[in-house]
Amino acid sequence: MGECRVCAGTVTEFFDFGRQPLSDAFVRPADFASEFFFRLAVGVCASCSMVQLMDEVPREHMFHEDYPYLSSGSAVMRAHFERTAERFLATELTGPDPFVVELGCNDGAMLKAVAEAGVRHLGIEPSGGVADLAAAKGVRVRKAFFEESTALEVRESDGPAKVIFAANTLCHIPYIGSVFRGVDTLLAPDGVFVFEDPYFAEIVRRTSFDQIYDEHFFFFTARSVRAMAAAYGFELVDVEPLAVHGGEVRYTLARAGARRPTDAVRDLLAEEEGAGLADLSTLRAFATRVEGIRDGLTSLLRDLHEQGKTVAGYGATAKSATVTNYCGIGPDLVPYVCDSTPAKQGRFMPGSHIPVREPAAFADPYPDYALLFAWNHAAEIMAKETAFKDAGGRWILYVPEVHVI
Ligand code: SAH
Ligand code: TYD
Ligand code: ZN
Repeated sequence: MGECRVCAGTVTEFFDFGRQPLSDAFVRPADFASEFFFRLAVGVCASCSMVQLMDEVPREHMFHEDYPYLSSGSAVMRAHFERTAERFLATELTGPDPFVVELGCNDGAMLKAVAEAGVRHLGIEPSGGVADLAAAKGVRVRKAFFEESTALEVRESDGPAKVIFAANTLCHIPYIGSVFRGVDTLLAPDGVFVFEDPYFAEIVRRTSFDQIYDEHFFFFTARSVRAMAAAYGFELVDVEPLAVHGGEVRYTLARAGARRPTDAVRDLLAEEEGAGLADLSTLRAFATRVEGIRDGLTSLLRDLHEQGKTVAGYGATAKSATVTNYCGIGPDLVPYVCDSTPAKQGRFMPGSHIPVREPAAFADPYPDYALLFAWNHAAEIMAKETAFKDAGGRWILYVPEVHVI
C-alpha cells in the first residue's frame, strides 16, 4: 500500500519488478560496483484511479548534465514535433505576442520550429547537456526543474503563457501538485496546458511492461487525468490518440469552465470504462501476461544460444533496462546492443552491463537475430535496416507478445 501522489488516496500494488537500476544510467566498468538500485513496483489508486510507481527515485539521480536521451534521435519523432509546433503556431499562438513554455524541451525538437517562426518561447529543461543542444538550435532555454517556484519566476520575467506543453515529461514528475500550482500561476486565463505521454490503456492492451521504469512515474488514462485536472482547478477539454512511442494520448487541459470539452473526451472515457483499466482483475491479468513474456523471451534467447545463433540488441532504450533486468538478460544471451546515441556508445547498459556499440557495428557482421528493444521505432528502424533482413537476419519482438519476424 502507498499514498497517491495526486489525491492522497490508497495505492494498491499490482506488480513488482524487483531491484532495478536507473534506466538511463549508461555506466563504465568503474561504476559497476556503485550502481544505484531501487524497487520498481507499480500500483493503482483506489480513489482517483491513477496508476503510479510505489517508490520514487530522487530526480537529480535521473536528470542531470549527462542525461543521454535525445528527442531528435528518431526521424519520426522529429517530424512529429515539427507538426506539433506548426499546429500550435496555427491555432493557440496566433494572438498578439503569444508566449509558449515547454516543460522538458530536451534537445529542442519541438521548440526549434517555434524559435524559427520568431515566436516568444521558453524551454524548461533540468538536464544540462540536452538543454545546451536546444540552445545551439536557437531555442531559449532555462536549466531548471519545472515546479511552483520556477513558474513564479517565469511569470514575473515573461508574463503569462498561452500554451504550456510537455511531451513525455509530465509522467516523469511525482511532485505533481507543485507542477499544477505552477501551471496555475503561469498559464493565461484562456491558455491551455497540453501534454502527451504513454497511454496506460495501450500499455495494458499491448502488455508493453517495459514502459514501466524509474522515469515513468505516472501512467495516465483520460479518467485519471480528468480527476487530476479537477483536483487543481483544471478541466480535461480534449484528447487525441497518438501513434508515437507505442501509443500515447495528447491531453488538453483548460481552466475549469473556460472551454467546452470535445466529444472525443466523452468517447475515450466511455471506451476506458469498458476496458476496466483500474480493476484489480484487469491489472492482475496484465501481470500474468508480463510473466508469460518474460518466460517466453528468456527461453527463446536460451534456445538460440544453445543452437549457436548470434543475437544483438537494437536500441539501448530506457525501456530495455526493465526488460533486461527483470528477465535476467545479460551479455551471455545478448553480447552487445547497437544504438545511435553518442553518449550511450562505449558504455554499458544499466544493471545488465551489456556493452553499447555504434549502429555501424550492427552490420559488422550482422547477427542471426536482432532483439528490437526500440520496438516503438520498428517501422523507422526496419526501413533503414533492410539489408539485415536481406542477409537472412530476423527480428525478435516481445510486444505485444514474443515473436520472430
Ligand atoms: N519532450 C522530449 C523529452 C522527453 S524526456 C520528448 O518528448 O522527446 C523527459 C525530459 O523531461 C528530460 O529531458 C528531462 O530532463 C526533463 N524533465 C524531468 N523533470 C522535469 C521537470 N520537473 N521540469 C522540466 N523538465 C523535466
Ligand atoms: P526511445 O524508445 O525513443 O526511448 P526510451 O529510451 O525512453 O525507451 O529510444 C530509442 C533508442 O533507440 C534511442 O537510444 C536511440 C535508438 N535508435 C537507434 O539506435 N536507431 C534508430 O534508428 C532509432 C530511431 C533509435
Ligand atoms: Zn489518487
